[in-house]
Amino acid sequence: MRILVIGAAGMVGRKLVERLAREGRLGSEPISQVSLVDVGAPEPPRDAPFAVDTMVADLAEPGVADQIVAARPDVVFHLAAVVSGEAEADLEKGYRVNLDAMRMLLDAIRERDGGYRPRFVCTSSIAVFGPPFPDVIDDDHLTTPATSYGTQKAMTELLLSDYSRRGFLDGIAIRLPTIVVRPGRPNLAASSFFSSIIREPLNGQEAVLPVPTDVRHWFASPRSAVGFLLHAGTLDTGLLGDRRCLNMPGVSATVADEIEALRRVGGAEAVRRIRHEPDETIMRIVSGWPRAFDARRARDLGFRADADFDEIVQVYVEDELEAPALSP
Ligand SMILES: NC(=O)c1ccc[n+]([C@@H]2O[C@H](COP(=O)([O-])OP(=O)(O)OC[C@H]3O[C@@H](n4cnc5c(N)ncnc54)[C@H](O)[C@@H]3O)[C@@H](O)[C@H]2O)c1
Repeated sequence: MRILVIGAAGMVGRKLVERLAREGRLGSEPISQVSLVDVGAPEPPRDAPFAVDTMVADLAEPGVADQIVAARPDVVFHLAAVVSGEAEADLEKGYRVNLDAMRMLLDAIRERDGGYRPRFVCTSSIAVFGPPFPDVIDDDHLTTPATSYGTQKAMTELLLSDYSRRGFLDGIAIRLPTIVVRPGRPNLAASSFFSSIIREPLNGQEAVLPVPTDVRHWFASPRSAVGFLLHAGTLDTGLLGDRRCLNMPGVSATVADEIEALRRVGGAEAVRRIRHEPDETIMRIVSGWPRAFDARRARDLGFRADADFDEIVQVYVEDELEAPALSP
């Protein structure tokens, strides 16, 4: 089995590739080759039991999509994206990477001859939904995005569904919750503080909390995100019917729940490292975000998330603070 990972240098991409290298197979199929593509240099995993090649390329540049699907990968994981804050700040870049590049990729697959029809897994987002929200969003909720990022993701979902219906590929889009605890340094996403208030205190540093503690949001760990991707890569898509875009399960938690989970792992000292500093702009953005889902369809199809926020913190401790990174 040959696998192509686009966006392989990103947070989720790196973790997916590490897991593939550990397991050596996708479902029951041994992996023979993994191709890593990213506009930043992707790092090949250490000791992978399969061949790995890497390519630094901008997927939105003409010809790149053709080049990377020429080897006819059996499974494509498309994770490359400009994330929410940047897509809002730079309209052209957001549409170029999040929409145009996806269309180029789908067309490059369509234009292969000889009945080529790979499994195509892409990461959408709960940002496809916009207010007003019910307390719990179900599988039939309308997609009315309130940001350019959410709009781009919703458009790619339509493309994926249509190209699947026409038989060019076997697509599935998974709408990820906000992934916490994001390892490494804070990024520019407005959601960054959800990770910072756990990560920084556990590393002896101060974190800023810009919103009230009763803010509720929808979360999953990076480990769960990788689990979703692997499951989407092997799932019987016949079970999806014509609805190939799925809300992923997750944990609905308030900032107060996060802080209590931090206290149970890091004690009162860790909690004291959170500085409350209200930020009107971030509060306004966050008030337009979903709070909870009933992701029944995905659960019935076998997608599994963390049990609660304690488990999300535990995953961070195990994968980032205790385990040595697999990548060099
Ligand atoms: N992290 C989250 O909370 C979250 C939530 C919902 C959806 N998602 C989606 O999941 C996917 C992965 O998220 P992540 O957190 O790993 O993001 P990330 O920003 O860490 O990784 C994205 C990667 O895409 C690459 N990329 C950007 N433009 C590119 C281009 N033109 N050509 C090639 N590569 C390009 C970047 O260099 C980066 O390595 C994205 O599609 C994102 O929209 C993430």
